[in-house]
Amino acid sequence: MQTINEQEQIDIDRYARSVAASKRVRWSLEEDVIRNRTLDTAQKFLPDGLSKVKEFTFLSESEQRYLSQIQGRTYANIFGLVERYISAKILELSSDFWFGDQIALEALVRFSDEELKHQELFRRVETLAAQGMPAGYRFLPQPNDVARAVLSKSTWAVMALTLHIELFTQMHYRQSIEPDENLSPLFKDVFLFHWKEESQHAILDELEWIRSDRKISADQRDRAVDEFIELVGAVDGILQLQASTDSQYFAETCGRRLSRDEQSKLEAGLLRAYRWQYILSGAQHPHFIKVLTSLITESQTQRILSALAPLTNTVANAA
Ligand SMILES: [Fe+2]
Ligand SMILES: [Fe+2]
Repeated sequence: MQTINEQEQIDIDRYARSVAASKRVRWSLEEDVIRNRTLDTAQKFLPDGLSKVKEFTFLSESEQRYLSQIQGRTYANIFGLVERYISAKILELSSDFWFGDQIALEALVRFSDEELKHQELFRRVETLAAQGMPAGYRFLPQPNDVARAVLSKSTWAVMALTLHIELFTQMHYRQSIEPDENLSPLFKDVFLFHWKEESQHAILDELEWIRSDRKISADQRDRAVDEFIELVGAVDGILQLQASTDSQYFAETCGRRLSRDEQSKLEAGLLRAYRWQYILSGAQHPHFIKVLTSLITESQTQRILSALAPLTNTVANAA
């Protein structure tokens, strides 16, 4: 068994490695990523593995491509949305190190700074998407409202959600975006560069989640598990709203009149795809499961699984 001092030494090394990685991969938005390019609407934005457009069998190939572009636009906006709260939370946690470990402080300040840059990147993507796509797209969730709601929960619950998000970000890039040859080159690069800076974020999320776990009682942790479930429910509320908004936009701009049946299949299919992208793919991430189950009891694990079950069933029924 490790002594406290050994554990602290391991943590210090991880913060230091994260600072080194952050310095090594740092990129600039315009010169490295955008490079005077636009989003090519002759190609897909979001890959099939995430957009699930092949399951929309009532759509033609070009309609499926258009749906992948709407989903890709929303994908960038969702990241910009969650990064508002992530950046603020990490700045808040950095105060624990103001007069302590200056390497840990630097790691968290760089993390927060990177998320500010990523928000700018995703605002830039939204502007480029608006230039190449029909008018009428709306992204309804408001970053500050969502951030205030998330930050009202305990650090344990907030960091559980954050590790989940930052792990699935990496997994989506490696498993679906990187191997797809038919994506807009700029869209693909946006997520390549984003992925490069996200790798160390997940390491820091885990350190901060475990650090918060050491400070709380069993009762507080039990309440935090409920708060994590509430946060996942809030994410699902956002997905329901945006799936409905995006299906309306598609119907209004796809160039033909969809039947009532096609419209309801479209909205249900989008919600399934969004739940896969933002909740279920991350909930199945082996490292997320490993860290989560190392912190909670079997009955708490079951509580989380039963909260996820209705979302999973929707996906299974559709398969
Ligand atoms: Fe990010
Ligand atoms: Fe991040």
